[in-house]
Amino acid sequence: MQGSLAAPQSRMLKGKAHSNQITGASGMDFILTEEQQMIQQVAREFAQQEIVPVAATFDASGNFPRDTIARAGELGFMGVEVPEQYGGSGLDTVCYALVMEEIAAADAAHSTIVSVNNSLYSTGILAYGTEEQKQRFVTPVATGKAIGCYGLTEPQSGSDAAAMRTRAELSADGSHYLINGKKAWITSGPVADYMVMFAVTNPEKKAKGISAFILDTHQPGFIRGKTEPKMGIRASATCEIEFENFRCPAENRLGKEGQGFAIAMDILDSGRIGIAAQSVGIARAAYEASLQYARERKAFGSAIGSFEMIQHKLADMKCKLEAARLLTLQAAWKRSRIKGTSERCTLEGSMAKLFASEAAMFCAHAAVQIHGGMGYSKELPIERYFRDAKITEIYEGTSEIQRMVIARLETGLR
Ligand code: CAA
Repeated sequence: MQGSLAAPQSRMLKGKAHSNQITGASGMDFILTEEQQMIQQVAREFAQQEIVPVAATFDASGNFPRDTIARAGELGFMGVEVPEQYGGSGLDTVCYALVMEEIAAADAAHSTIVSVNNSLYSTGILAYGTEEQKQRFVTPVATGKAIGCYGLTEPQSGSDAAAMRTRAELSADGSHYLINGKKAWITSGPVADYMVMFAVTNPEKKAKGISAFILDTHQPGFIRGKTEPKMGIRASATCEIEFENFRCPAENRLGKEGQGFAIAMDILDSGRIGIAAQSVGIARAAYEASLQYARERKAFGSAIGSFEMIQHKLADMKCKLEAARLLTLQAAWKRSRIKGTSERCTLEGSMAKLFASEAAMFCAHAAVQIHGGMGYSKELPIERYFRDAKITEIYEGTSEIQRMVIARLETGLR
């Protein structure tokens, strides 16, 4: 362990490292470092002991799980990659992906909240913010004392993010921006203390006329709409946000005027790795439950896992799960390696997110089928995995957008 990890280590690492490889199936050296194994183990213990017991209750109520999220903050999971001087754990992107997988395997909704604080909110401020912005806006969120959110989508602009209409107009004296407009589908919006958001500062310049801002959501003019009643990840709160003459101090602009769209995309490059890891967690939970059920459940005098039709499903689930994890960790490794340079991990992040989200959906669907009637019952978490998996193919760029990004990068054509 490096010196900089001393603080999170003492906060996080109550468990002992144990030999825990990414996958046992290959001759290549895919063994995690000691530090990565330790984080994985601590995250697994936290997720299994503290999140699993409450997941169904929060799914049913749709309430925001404040206590477990505060606990995740204490353990250092709300700022895994955030440097220690800003309240984080100072770890790499692989550690972040491992934490996300573990938390998602226990409950996808919790992992959504974790992912927004870590990647969508903190990443952009760390990469483009001033020292003062990092101190003031990252520290409370990375320690889990405050919640962050990310405002890109609008009612009329989802996949076509550059078509946003929310306006930010600089005051004549240059002291503040006046923000008016509406954002939609804001994850953690109902409870967030701060928001990294994007608004048009020069409508003639389209994508190049968008700028990024950090807002204190407790200021006048920040109006939260009703919480969306969602199919899955129900404990992760989502709402519309309306801005009515919201005054954002000029010093809270993130990056340069006109740089906002590139910042939004850069943030999504890392966000998509988090969603890929979340998908791996959901796929794993669905697969492990199915494996156990197939061994135990008897039909026609045998365990159903001895039937070829169930075996095919399990084999396909296992392959997709392992392949998804490898793509996710590849993207995470690349992001760690290029951090602070001008290189991008857009392709790797999109490939991981696309493949892993579809693997999660495949595994959750197969898990319901393997469990039969019990897969359809709320007595088991299987139907929750199925509902939760679907969002991974939609948010942070739909599967259609990921295919477009990958194909554009591969062909060089648009
Ligand atoms: N990094 C940095 N800059 C980037 C970039 C990246 N990954 N991708 C694009 N850019 C830059 C481009 O280089 C370009 O600048 P130049 O002209 O100087 O080269 C500029 O941004 C515009 O790029 P494009 O022409 O490619 O833009 P586009 O309008 O064709 O859109 C898109 C591209 C990929 C479709 C993009 O709009 C997109 O990703 N859409 C999906 C939006 C999305 O993922 N929304 C998720 C919302 S958040 C969410 O879901 C959170 C949640 O609930 C948890």
